[in-house]
Amino acid sequence: MGDDGQLAALLDEQAAFYRAVAPEYDDHALPFAGGGEPAQALDAFRPAGSVLELACGPGTWTPQLLRHATDVTAVDASAEMLGIASSRVGAAPVRFLQGDLFTWHPDRRYDVVFFGFWLSHVPAERSTSFWSLVDDCLQPDGRVFFVDDWHRTEEELIEGEDSPVVQRRLTDGTAYRIVKIPHQPADLERQLARIGWSINVHSISGPYYWGSGTRTQPA
Ligand SMILES: C[S@@+](CC[C@H](N)C(=O)[O-])C[C@H]1O[C@@H](n2cnc3c(N)ncnc32)[C@H](O)[C@@H]1O
Repeated sequence: MGDDGQLAALLDEQAAFYRAVAPEYDDHALPFAGGGEPAQALDAFRPAGSVLELACGPGTWTPQLLRHATDVTAVDASAEMLGIASSRVGAAPVRFLQGDLFTWHPDRRYDVVFFGFWLSHVPAERSTSFWSLVDDCLQPDGRVFFVDDWHRTEEELIEGEDSPVVQRRLTDGTAYRIVKIPHQPADLERQLARIGWSINVHSISGPYYWGSGTRTQPA
């Protein structure tokens, strides 16, 4: 994808889309985005201890994390999303932080790092640095859980099937370009293994998948 300036502009546009879509986010979400099989898998994973939620959005997953966690730190670039998330969790032990995940650094380490419907928005050029951030966020025995989907409609493929860039629209028709990588679970698992992660990625019904694991343990 072009030079770094073009990529930075695309990531700014992606963040702007999510700021603008925040009040109508639930109208655009896929069915099961915050429930069903991924939610059962997350409960079975038991995200206990101190949990970091990256790209928390409007708090789609935060209440479920709180069923297991002693405390949650939730980061998102959008103040609009954080405001909605905050109103959903009430007085629960959640620390909300506004931050750009392509430059943000943690101030402590966590038992679990969780991200819902975020990985598919990380461009290939930033994948290694994103996983290096996850590494920096985790305790030595820390665990990761993510859930995502590979769904892209014909209409949004404005640069063709081979491009990671798609177009999303607000309800009023305003168009934004965002990154949406249609990861396939087996390929993703292999890619993560190559950069030092032992993560099982599970396909579930529909376009959804979830993954959980740890850094690859030394032999
Ligand atoms: C698809 S939503 C997922 C929200 C939520 N986790 C869920 O599962 O519904 C992607 C989220 O990423 C956030 N985001 C976009 N760019 C970001 C960036 N550079 N740094 C941090 N968050 C970002 C958006 O504000 C949005 O809340």
